[in-house]
Amino acid sequence: MSLPIRVAVLTVSDTASANATADKSGPAIREILQSKNGFVCDVHRIVPDDVHAIQAAVTEWCSSGEVDWVITTGGTGFGVKDCTPEAVTPLIERHASGLVHLMTSASLKHTPLAALSRPVAGTIKNTLVVTLPGSVKAVKENVDALLAGGVVNHAIELIR
Ligand code: MTE
Repeated sequence: MSLPIRVAVLTVSDTASANATADKSGPAIREILQSKNGFVCDVHRIVPDDVHAIQAAVTEWCSSGEVDWVITTGGTGFGVKDCTPEAVTPLIERHASGLVHLMTSASLKHTPLAALSRPVAGTIKNTLVVTLPGSVKAVKENVDALLAGGVVNHAIELIR
């Protein structure tokens, strides 16, 4: 039997970093992956919309050797403070444009507003990193797309 996939969830939000109860999408991701799909989601953090804070968390987790999949939620849009793609892009060692395409094409079936998300995906060391939007609806739709057909499971089998 294969080892469980270890997930770290980073919520990126000025609001949630000041008041953790405002974080709805981080817990939603953990619930979907842990309860319904058998992933291990013990690691999570909330940071403000700040490039250095985002990079510090992603770098720490990808260097630890203890995280297979880093998921960020929030800060991918056109808002003036949204900077998650700008923070994560320079850290990516191998870009996964297919995963970006998968998320965008699946999301556009739900709403044209998906065009306003600027997702990034790729690998850093032996860790897969994807950036999801900040709404609960959007994370459910994106996680469904990533798990369908075993796409993420297979990606992680290949990198770890
Ligand atoms: N993707 C899906 N699948 N479903 C959604 O409802 N909402 C969009 C988009 N992507 C949405 C989605 C909206 S309204 C925005 S503004 C962008 O994600 C960016 O969200 P973020 O700034 O919270 O990251």
